Amino acid sequence: MRIGTVTEIKKLERRVGLTPAVVATLVAHGHELFVQSGAGAGVGLSDGDYAAAGATILPDAAAVFEAAETIVKVKEPQAPEIALLKPHHVLFTYLHLAPDPEQTRGLMASGATCIAYETVTSNSGALPLLKPMSEVAGRMSVQVASHYLEKEQGGRGELLGGVPGVAPCKVAILGGGVSGINAAQMATGQRADVTIYDINNERLAELDMHFGSQIKTAYASKAAIAEAVKTSQVVIGAVLVPGAAAPKLVTRDMLKTMMRGSVLVDIAIDQGGCFETSHATTHDDPVYEVDGIIHYCVANMPGAVARTSAFALNNATLPFVLKLANLGAEAAMRADKHLANGLNVYKGKIAFKAVADDLDLPYEA
Ligand SMILES: NC(=O)c1ccc[n+]([C@@H]2O[C@H](COP(=O)([O-])OP(=O)(O)OC[C@H]3O[C@@H](n4cnc5c(N)ncnc54)[C@H](O)[C@@H]3O)[C@@H](O)[C@H]2O)c1
Repeated sequence: MRIGTVTEIKKLERRVGLTPAVVATLVAHGHELFVQSGAGAGVGLSDGDYAAAGATILPDAAAVFEAAETIVKVKEPQAPEIALLKPHHVLFTYLHLAPDPEQTRGLMASGATCIAYETVTSNSGALPLLKPMSEVAGRMSVQVASHYLEKEQGGRGELLGGVPGVAPCKVAILGGGVSGINAAQMATGQRADVTIYDINNERLAELDMHFGSQIKTAYASKAAIAEAVKTSQVVIGAVLVPGAAAPKLVTRDMLKTMMRGSVLVDIAIDQGGCFETSHATTHDDPVYEVDGIIHYCVANMPGAVARTSAFALNNATLPFVLKLANLGAEAAMRADKHLANGLNVYKGKIAFKAVADDLDLPYEA
């Protein structure tokens, strides 16, 4: 199979769809790899690294699309990339089609087979190609909270873990899923006083077993959250209701009770945010204050640590890329229902029901 990757052209996207290690694995399986010159530059990977892994370096995206049948990327294709897609291409990348009719129509018109990372599933019903980014965001949330608690950053001037004789900060994590657990791991590592709130009692029991006495768990009732906001220096929003906007768990009124200089990190901002006062921010201007409380609401947190994120994403995509390469897209999807769940657009038709419903376009199984 001829497989290619290109330099991401979406604004501020520095990750890369294939790392040299993945290229080398695919080459070892007998595949031909084509990489656009500079594709890995954003994460410190040179053309020489790719050439050493066995890839052919090509000057531009047009040459890669010309040479390769399967294109592996990170972000949804932008207009100039959609223009290069032909019916024989297989595109494997994040697509997020539901809110994007223009891209959807472009992919339908291309005739290409488009498989979306975000709808590939696993045996446990989870979304394995979204999971690494939630891990990154969860771990990063504690790093940014510690930073913004510093006096010079406008914070309370408190050290997350305290010191001998001075109590640590209280960290409330709303939602004990992938990002919540990763936040808890980092916060306990810094010796903070951590409580995880969730409405799933089974999940609370699992967290209790997993962390033992390192954390406390609490049912996420309105009263429990109000108390958490009043007493915690850091509140991390990590909830998810699949397919729906995030519930507004922290109201404007609750915020008024919070200690000045405390920090809110709303990881769930990509689903609208779980604090009433949240609005999306970007890495070049990540925080703002409401009632003296610092809000960090970056919708693309993994972008700040593009190198870690690119390697984590490649670890997760590799088994699926290998299957696509070894069997061809159609046989690979017949053999693996989880990969088949990733199929969003096929031969001009929408093959993912939720996308068709959201965009009011015809669906074909
Ligand atoms: N900002 C970013 O850069 C970034 C990066 C990655 C993921 N995310 C987002 O982070 C959010 C969390 O993702 P995840 O992978 O951890 O999800 P997840 O499904 O693993 O966990 C979500 C948890 O929230 C809990 N929950 C749902 N409703 C709740 C409520 N009302 N109160 C308390 N808990 C509740 C669920 O029971 C579940 O345990 C998602 O919106 C995801 O898109 C954002």
